[in-house]
Amino acid sequence: MHPMTHDVARVLISEGDVQRRVAELGAQLSADYQDSNPLLVCVLKGGYVFLADLTRALTIRHGVDFMAVSSYGNATESSGVVRILKDLDRDITGRHVLIVEDIIDTGRTITYLMDNLRVRQPASLRICTLLSKPSRREVDLDIDYIGFEIPNGFVIGYGLDYAENYRNLPFIGVLKPEVYS
Ligand code: PRP
Repeated sequence: MHPMTHDVARVLISEGDVQRRVAELGAQLSADYQDSNPLLVCVLKGGYVFLADLTRALTIRHGVDFMAVSSYGNATESSGVVRILKDLDRDITGRHVLIVEDIIDTGRTITYLMDNLRVRQPASLRICTLLSKPSRREVDLDIDYIGFEIPNGFVIGYGLDYAENYRNLPFIGVLKPEVYS
């Protein structure tokens, strides 16, 4: 057993289920983006684990780039005002761009990113998120690719953290309330 599972109340999505779904998404994206050489834009930090597995599930030519953003306001509530800490290395004009996120919660971060990237006139701009919490949504949003819809609750693992811990867990778990309260 993983030593860090001590703080996990229950496993929400097992390692096997995560890996199967990532393989499915990889196959679907490989078909949808055939011959278009898309650029996968990973949103740091949470997206790095999903991106690493997703990119290896693709059978098509593609590039990867990274953005680091930080939300203004307090740590638990997303304000939607986002500061770019690291921008893309290259211009995306005319490029097919797929944003890769670990989770979409209120939808404010991804909305800001979409607005920011759309101005740069990519050929297309879509979203792929491993997790979505529809009950928490505060803005209207069409998500092109979703791994799993999940209920509200404090989830960790597979890139998702609490105070920078647990990102390395290979499954999605629910954190024990006593850890964060
Ligand atoms: C998470 C996640 C998204 C955002 C989603 O990042 O990776 O970027 O929150 O929330 P929203 O839909 O309510 O805007 P977080 O701020 O936890 O940073 P991290 O990825 O560095 O852990």
